[in-house]
Amino acid sequence: MIFGRVKPLDAILATAEKKSLHRSLGALQLTLFGIGCIIGTGIFVLTAAGAQKAGPGLMLAFVIAGAVCIVAALCYAEIAAMVPVAGSAYTYSYATMGEILAWTVGWALVLEYAIAASAVSVGWAGFFTGTILKETFGIALPAALSAGPLALGGAPGGMINLPAFVIALLVTWLLMIGTNESARVNAVLVTIKLIALTAFIALTLPKIDAANFNPFLPAGTFGGFGTGVGAVGAAATIFFAYVGFDAVSTAAEETKNPQRNVPIGLIGSLLFCTIFYILVAAGAVGTIGGQPIMGPGGVPFPAGSEELARQCAMPQYAERLVCSNEALAHVLRQIGFGTIGNMLGYAAIIALPSVILILLFGQTRIAFVMARDGLLPESWSKVHPKWKTPYVITAITGVAVAIGAAFLPVGQLADIANAGTLYAFMMVAISVMLLRKRDPERKRAFRVPGLIIIGPLTILGCMFLFFNLPTAAMLVLPGWSAIGLLIYFGYSRRRSHLGQGKIEVHEAELDDIHPHVPGIDVPKS
Ligand code: ALA
Repeated sequence: MIFGRVKPLDAILATAEKKSLHRSLGALQLTLFGIGCIIGTGIFVLTAAGAQKAGPGLMLAFVIAGAVCIVAALCYAEIAAMVPVAGSAYTYSYATMGEILAWTVGWALVLEYAIAASAVSVGWAGFFTGTILKETFGIALPAALSAGPLALGGAPGGMINLPAFVIALLVTWLLMIGTNESARVNAVLVTIKLIALTAFIALTLPKIDAANFNPFLPAGTFGGFGTGVGAVGAAATIFFAYVGFDAVSTAAEETKNPQRNVPIGLIGSLLFCTIFYILVAAGAVGTIGGQPIMGPGGVPFPAGSEELARQCAMPQYAERLVCSNEALAHVLRQIGFGTIGNMLGYAAIIALPSVILILLFGQTRIAFVMARDGLLPESWSKVHPKWKTPYVITAITGVAVAIGAAFLPVGQLADIANAGTLYAFMMVAISVMLLRKRDPERKRAFRVPGLIIIGPLTILGCMFLFFNLPTAAMLVLPGWSAIGLLIYFGYSRRRSHLGQGKIEVHEAELDDIHPHVPGIDVPKS
């Protein structure tokens, strides 16, 4: 039967049990880890794309996207605390909906993590060319080397985004040779990001001019499905700013008392970031204004489009928030805090590579688990004898991430990443509901309160945001899934270990490779 291959939950949990010696993370560390994964290009850069879609309604967009993430996080919390093993949504789906759907989830997670890593690389590159090269050294990198081609949504004269390409490869290299980020480094980076955002809020809020909020929703609340505009269209894009909280679930295996600490880490980091984001959005649009550049028929030009890039090249629009590649630093410079704006740029330059590292790590860990299950070539999960890392998968992922970063603009990359993420979140909510029905007696230290409402709300919320992405981004997911299914039926199905009747417990192997998630410390046992 096509949907018949369900991995027994007990075998998965036996894996988790074997890992229990390594559990060291507490609630605070996990929350810090979550904040480290969450805050990145979304708030530092995509604020501009969000404003182009919604104007001042960007604030509402943060509320909508945050609300969907919080219900999704509740579902994640129940299942991550109950099944605290590597592989995240892929593993949960394998245990509930069977191999083929798990494959589609794992395949969609590639879109989430790899494309998100490309997006953060492009965000980093904006600060590198703006703050370091232009503002600090007075060097204007030619468009040919600082943006992708115009036809793909880059800038006029653009060919390749060289800084984005290089940073993606550099982080891949660090991951390949086994560089890991300690909890202390993560704490320092989180502090740097929070100081930068707090300074932004403190400096902008007193300078808000209420007139800048008017009209609040120049493109309406609801721009219409597939248009990607209006407050909901902006929410679908800005959702990216929250992506990463699910990485907390990938650390569940390393967490002390995961039943208590995983839910606290997931929900705590998310609530914290939601409040920060709304204040930052208020400061950005309230000071320099965030009205979109309107196209024909009073509809905003699509963010990341060729038309918008042309408009932004004109002097009357060049200083608009919606045209900036380094939105928050730009706002501070515009309101007379040039030096602090540059410092915020430096904060982003220092902190964003760690977000790329965590996303790339998430991707390699999921691909590793899929290869270990026999669904991807097992040679991909080869571990380097000296570096002790799955270097083949890391290299393949890194090159793909660098190519995406070199040619596509940040907004489009974020939208594509969001499409994969929304699908995975939806499947997590379905898994939680299915497990409650099929395995009601199993111990759940955290139960989603009112799952009968929260579960369907998560599914509907994810679908709602998905259908408010721009059509092109929306279509990537079915196209990508179709390729995935061809590979599944052409290659993976026959090689699946579960399909061959092998149910393995692999923890020794996982401990041998790059043993823990970046940003957290695990003591040697
Ligand atoms: N949420 C992360 C960011 O905004 C992926 O960069």
